[in-house]
Amino acid sequence: MASLSFSNSVLFVLCIFAIAFSEANLNKDFQITWGDGRAKILNNGELLTLSLDKASGSGFQSKNEYLFGQIDMQLKLVPGNSAGTVTAYYLSSKGSTWDEIDFEFLGNLSGDPYIIHTNVFSQGKGNREQQFYLWFDPTADFHTYSVLWNPQQIVFSVDGTPIRKFKNLESKGVPYPKNQPMRIYSSLWNADDWATRGGLVKTDWSQAPFTASYRNFKANACVFSSGASSCSSHSASSSTSGANSWLSQELDSAGEEKLKWVQKNYMIYNYCTDAKRFPQGTPQECKIA
Ligand SMILES: *[C@@H]1O[C@H](CO)[C@@H](O)[C@H](O)[C@H]1NC(C)=O
Repeated sequence: MASLSFSNSVLFVLCIFAIAFSEANLNKDFQITWGDGRAKILNNGELLTLSLDKASGSGFQSKNEYLFGQIDMQLKLVPGNSAGTVTAYYLSSKGSTWDEIDFEFLGNLSGDPYIIHTNVFSQGKGNREQQFYLWFDPTADFHTYSVLWNPQQIVFSVDGTPIRKFKNLESKGVPYPKNQPMRIYSSLWNADDWATRGGLVKTDWSQAPFTASYRNFKANACVFSSGASSCSSHSASSSTSGANSWLSQELDSAGEEKLKWVQKNYMIYNYCTDAKRFPQGTPQECKIA
């Protein structure tokens, strides 16, 4: 009896490890889409790398489509002289009235700050850029970049610190992404015509290949397949606080304070305060938020 329950618990523990292992496997969630060998999934699915040289960049996309989610990925950006390079990491639906939630990381000369560029498209319309510096060197180590996308809002976070919030203001006539499933996409490419100091600093190809790395993908999300969406929660922490709590999650007061701190100290561009760009007045969501 005792030995039976012992082996049962060993089996149980093995199963837990098997689940944890398969969840950490990037091969399960992503596929390389372009770059002719420049993108690689390594170490049994623990690590994904994209590279860029003069001939080509590279990219990958998620196998699943998601309709809402709390989506975390750790990225380590191109180190050294990354001027001219752009690492894009975003969610997007398809078609001419697509929705999109964007992170783009604009490289720089060694020691000069990356810019983290964000945008939100709803029904094919973007023009909602906000840009930030970071409070650490994003090339020295992996950091977690997250999108919380639920029916109430979209929150962009870095290492758990919210940097941007886009509220659902449909009631005020602002289209909100909520009907079109999105895939996750990422790519590393050359954009030296605009990326670094507005295109002044060009890519130094003697530094190529440039490499960005990804690991520890985690999605508590609703996976969309054959016309229906099924929501699942994989993390122990969210099951203790109720499965799918992220679906109704909003920033608490500590989160709002952190968001203010980032926006005050690290935001370098905000479309909402760019009056020159919007001579007829800034977009509706800027007047409310
Ligand atoms: C690069 O560094 C320069 C000088 O510090 C800075 O003005 C710029 O915002 C930085 N980032 C990019 C992507 O140009």
